[in-house]
Amino acid sequence: MPEQAVERPAVLIARLLLPAGREPLAAEAELREGGLDATPEGIAELAEGVEAIVADPTVRVDDDLLEAAGSDLRVVANFAVGTDNIDLEACRRREIPVANTPDVLTNATGELALALTLAASRRTTAAEADLRGGRWSGWDPGAYLGLELSDATFAVIGLGRIGRRYAELVRELAGELLYVAREAKPEAEDALDAERVELEEALRRADVVSLHLPASDSTRYLIGAAELQAMQSHALLVNTARGSIVDTEALVMALETGQIGAAGLDVYEAEPEVPEALRAAPNCTLLPHIGSATTRARDAMARTAAENVLAALRGSEPPNRVA
Ligand code: GLV
Repeated sequence: MPEQAVERPAVLIARLLLPAGREPLAAEAELREGGLDATPEGIAELAEGVEAIVADPTVRVDDDLLEAAGSDLRVVANFAVGTDNIDLEACRRREIPVANTPDVLTNATGELALALTLAASRRTTAAEADLRGGRWSGWDPGAYLGLELSDATFAVIGLGRIGRRYAELVRELAGELLYVAREAKPEAEDALDAERVELEEALRRADVVSLHLPASDSTRYLIGAAELQAMQSHALLVNTARGSIVDTEALVMALETGQIGAAGLDVYEAEPEVPEALRAAPNCTLLPHIGSATTRARDAMARTAAENVLAALRGSEPPNRVA
């Protein structure tokens, strides 16, 4: 007797999922994949009738997409720790769980924040561009003078998982380690000899300010003209969190006028657009949102996203449910 075909659940991978996550999903589900160039319209078309959506930071999961998916949808699994691309309220209204990929990218992102800190403090972007462009005419005692980080005051804004990792990594360099958080973290204060301060004080005292907050209405433009003005003229701003936390126009102005010393950025307000004024601004290192881009982290993120989907398809709670 021919075996009866068992219908496999349809899963939408809105863009692309690495094999570490794609393979376990393909073993149990019918995959629909948008590809890297997927448009919102194309994603919505593929979504009809799916039981799970795998999104990433570039994919807007809103009422329209949820509507397009329909009533079979059982989970939205983000291939990211941040969930600002997802309308969580719209998912809650429909009782659709949302999951993310925490922990596995903590080291990678903390390390990239450190890389940006080192690069921005030593002007490596301008120095390397000169060398590559044939403009290096030899050792010059006064060229590319940067900020020495040993004994510097570091301010970590947001002491969650990634902020904490960055704090651990810079602890060896830091003279003083300040942090800004909604709640005191006594364990971290002890372990890292860190001091909790208000944002204004952190900006005023720090040589290095590194942002580690999620994007939300309350963190939008947390760093604007007034905050940049409060920083010291040699100080660095590092952002590996989300572009919306910094007012880009104000930052460009602060870099151009020497209100702050340098910036290291991995995230932007309207990715993948990076305003020309920022690209032309002096003393900044700009990276294309690669905070979690290590093989280890991205494979683990893919596996985690798949685990979240498979749990929901089996009727269990996704292990990394955030809403
Ligand atoms: C990447 O930006 C993430 O949120 O994981």
